Amino acid sequence: MQVSRSLFDEVMVPNYAPSAVIPVKGLGSKVWDQTGREFIDFAGGIAVNCLGHCHPALVSALKDQADKLWHLSNVMTNEPALILAQKLVNATFAEKVYFANSGAEANEAALKLARRWAKNEVGEHKTQIIAFKQGFHGRTFFTVTVGGQPAYSDGFGPKPADIVHAEYNNLASLEALISDNTCAVMLEPLQGEGGIISPTVEFIQGVAALCKKHNALMIFDEVQSGVGRTGELYAYMGLGVVPDILTTAKALGGGFPIGAMLTTTAIAKHLVVGTHGSTYGGNPLACAVGIAAFDTVNTPEVLNGVKHREQLFRDGLNAINAKYDVFSEIRGQGLLIGAALNDKYQGKARDFMLAAADEGLMMLVAGYSVLRMTPSLVIPEADIAEGLKRFEKAVAKMVQA
Ligand SMILES: Cc1ncc(COP(=O)(O)O)c(C=O)c1O
Repeated sequence: MQVSRSLFDEVMVPNYAPSAVIPVKGLGSKVWDQTGREFIDFAGGIAVNCLGHCHPALVSALKDQADKLWHLSNVMTNEPALILAQKLVNATFAEKVYFANSGAEANEAALKLARRWAKNEVGEHKTQIIAFKQGFHGRTFFTVTVGGQPAYSDGFGPKPADIVHAEYNNLASLEALISDNTCAVMLEPLQGEGGIISPTVEFIQGVAALCKKHNALMIFDEVQSGVGRTGELYAYMGLGVVPDILTTAKALGGGFPIGAMLTTTAIAKHLVVGTHGSTYGGNPLACAVGIAAFDTVNTPEVLNGVKHREQLFRDGLNAINAKYDVFSEIRGQGLLIGAALNDKYQGKARDFMLAAADEGLMMLVAGYSVLRMTPSLVIPEADIAEGLKRFEKAVAKMVQA
């Protein structure tokens, strides 16, 4: 069967606008399209392919498990799910794990758990959820409403209630909203989709203190920032605070769909049998790949390598900027990097991304004016250098245009 981009418009729901390129093969941080054209991958499937494409450890885990057992449902548990849960518990603050299939589902579970916890521990009135403008937590109706971008949640009828938004990095705006009726404060410990915004230490520690004061749960959405992305296993580990609930997905499966919600025993106990669930959550195939991804990423070599690679990206982007003057700031942490366009190029992030694709480089945007890079955590240095070279060509064309 002849497959071309035009088939997308014929048979797919039009909620995406994919590029004209159809990749058919990937290896490490390189991808090839139908015509054999090579791309360097600085996008990493939006912070998912933490070990690049077809990493041998992941391929072998998937193949081994494929020969054993694919799926049971949660009527029975399975060995890979329990092993992965044990690893997550050993490596983090958490004592209990709930598996889902995506970031949105992990967040949905976190929000439902928070509401149950508040109802049982305090009372029916403690339902308020506070999140942050420009935050992103997924596309289910609950999570997209908690996300701070009304453009994504408007137009679908009545929204889940008692959700309000404060300003990120503005503690006073949270203080003005929070009360003893607040059940949870949800935030990304590094805003991704919203433009690659790092929290200040004062802000994040202030959020933790306000949650404590008002007996509200602090939920960290580490769907994008987790599993080594920032150079820490989870971003909270570098911030001097510990959340009550943490969600993780994307890189957790290195490309195989899986999500998880982590929490303490005291909080987890409120999701009793029958209160929440998923047919696929904790699926043996997903968890087997998750184990391999987790074991490979959670090593000093890989985590320190992220910090080293971050420096290579920063040096390269700063050098391009010194020559072409296109960025106001290079920001982010680890390999979650944002290049914010300066006043002259506001609103042009997508054009830069398309120009990069023309030069054989896959990258992302975060909003209209920030270019985003979330490559493999083990991207070879030669691929960083070659990708930056291609990016410089794209920038040169944009500047001349
Ligand atoms: C911080 C954050 N939370 C949640 C999500 C949603 O994850 P998923 O698309 O797997 O549902 C994303 C996706 O970009 C994200 O960046």
